[in-house]
Amino acid sequence: MNQAPIDQTDAWQRLQEHARELRGTHLRQLFADPKRGTAFTRRAAGLTLDLSKQRWNDATLALLLELARDAGVPQGIKALLEGEHVNISEDRPALHSALRLPADASLIVDGEDVVPGVHATLDRMETMVERLHARQWRGATGRPIHDVVNLGVGGSDLGPLMVTHALADHRPADAHHVEVHFASTMDGSQLVDYLKRFNPETTLFVISSKSFTTIDTLSNALTARDWLMARLVEDGIQGVDEKMVMRQHFIGVSAKPEKMSEWGIAEANQLLFWEWVGGRYSLWGAIGLPIALVIGMQGFRELLAGAHAMDEHFAQAPLEDNLPVMLALAGIWNVNFLDIRAHSILPYDGRLEHFAAYLEQLEMESNGKSATHDGDLVNYSTCPVLWGQLGPNAQHAFYQLLHQGTQPVVCDFIAPLKRYDNVEDVATRNHLKAQHRLTLANCFAQSRLLMLGDDAIDEPGERPGHKRYRGNQPSTTLLLDRLTPATLGALIALYEHKVFVQATIWAINPFDQWGVELGKQIAGETERILADHRGHEGMDASTRGLIEAAWQAERE
Ligand code: F6P
Repeated sequence: MNQAPIDQTDAWQRLQEHARELRGTHLRQLFADPKRGTAFTRRAAGLTLDLSKQRWNDATLALLLELARDAGVPQGIKALLEGEHVNISEDRPALHSALRLPADASLIVDGEDVVPGVHATLDRMETMVERLHARQWRGATGRPIHDVVNLGVGGSDLGPLMVTHALADHRPADAHHVEVHFASTMDGSQLVDYLKRFNPETTLFVISSKSFTTIDTLSNALTARDWLMARLVEDGIQGVDEKMVMRQHFIGVSAKPEKMSEWGIAEANQLLFWEWVGGRYSLWGAIGLPIALVIGMQGFRELLAGAHAMDEHFAQAPLEDNLPVMLALAGIWNVNFLDIRAHSILPYDGRLEHFAAYLEQLEMESNGKSATHDGDLVNYSTCPVLWGQLGPNAQHAFYQLLHQGTQPVVCDFIAPLKRYDNVEDVATRNHLKAQHRLTLANCFAQSRLLMLGDDAIDEPGERPGHKRYRGNQPSTTLLLDRLTPATLGALIALYEHKVFVQATIWAINPFDQWGVELGKQIAGETERILADHRGHEGMDASTRGLIEAAWQAERE
């Protein structure tokens, strides 16, 4: 393993030189090679990854693979999956992959096999899910729970939100009378709507917070608790007391059992996970309870199995056939050598509506860093700015910039190959299949146009500037055979591991998030100033003015 800073390795220098040579080559020229499509396509775990529309060639890939070896990617993969303390600043492993190990596996971490604990938690989740599905989990007045509201933010919200939405059509029959909802914002916007509409007698809150200190979640939880108490206890429903409400209407999910107990979560309703699961990597265990409530425990286990298949592939496939490694290398090439630092995530499937938001946290909270493991500042770019939206909707929103703007952007197009096989009514099925075909056509057409520019159409004659398409915008296309729990699991694990490979090359820690801490601290101080109506004197003129405006609004 090479210890020199990565930008001082021979491979890095040669990649810079190579990038200078390749810069003048348009993607359409690279496609003069008819075998390019297959040469840059890889398959694993129900996913097909087409990287042929990246602005690279065989020589680029050979150099990038050398860079990955210099950075110690093979050793890094092993260290990650075997539970070494890869989260260096917090001195612990990052073992989200252990959450999807089969029950008969074993993984000794710091002297202890973590697999039995993982499966014991899954079994406890199963019991809760079964009781809710069977209408046996009843509210304090004896009525079965109908609405389950997940109160969490960041990793305790985005993963479950994204997956429940993506797999809603995999809901088993017995799950149909339980509706799952999400409230994350600290301003209570989502919660207030639920409190207006839901019946407190049949509403259960899941407080999801790894730390159980996140103010966004705890302030929603407090509002929810007071709402229940006011409606069920203070209104004087006979035989209902606070203890019953806590027991029948709250589940807690956290790595901090003592904090859950302090808050009043009954011990039987506490689902635990471990410090070695990062928040944004946590949907695979207890934080996934809302997912299991929607797709059933069998579906949840299929999701885990799909992710595990990707873990196995990540562990075993040679670097050049390894999907996460290849995806990561394409990113490194774009960011560090082609200076493309905007990355758009474009799913062509409405069920993946929340996928971009999920990846924004996964990628940017993991790799939006500038200090290496040694504490030195990096001399190179790390995580690009990542954003996204459903592709078909984005076509009517920001594709203008992709096609004719001045920013180079790399795009990930994501689509399932098959859809709607199970729609019973033949006429509706045919209509929906035609809509799916239309969606795929748009997906394929857009990446082709971004690649070729004007050459995508055979139209003679000069065109004015405003009608010209320069093309040469690189993209990746990721096809799922179908969108199922297993392929979604594999897709998420693919991106998780991609992030890890990039972090390894950049020598940064993808498993901490110190960059968000100071903001929390200052917000806390500011909140006290707002509440006390004093203490802002030493602040800058802008913030003082804003605070005074808020005070004024409070007085009016
Ligand atoms: O503030 C960032 C963060 O710590 C994320 O990393 C995390 O996913 C989110 O807040 C929620 O944290 P918790 O699950 O501890 O409430």
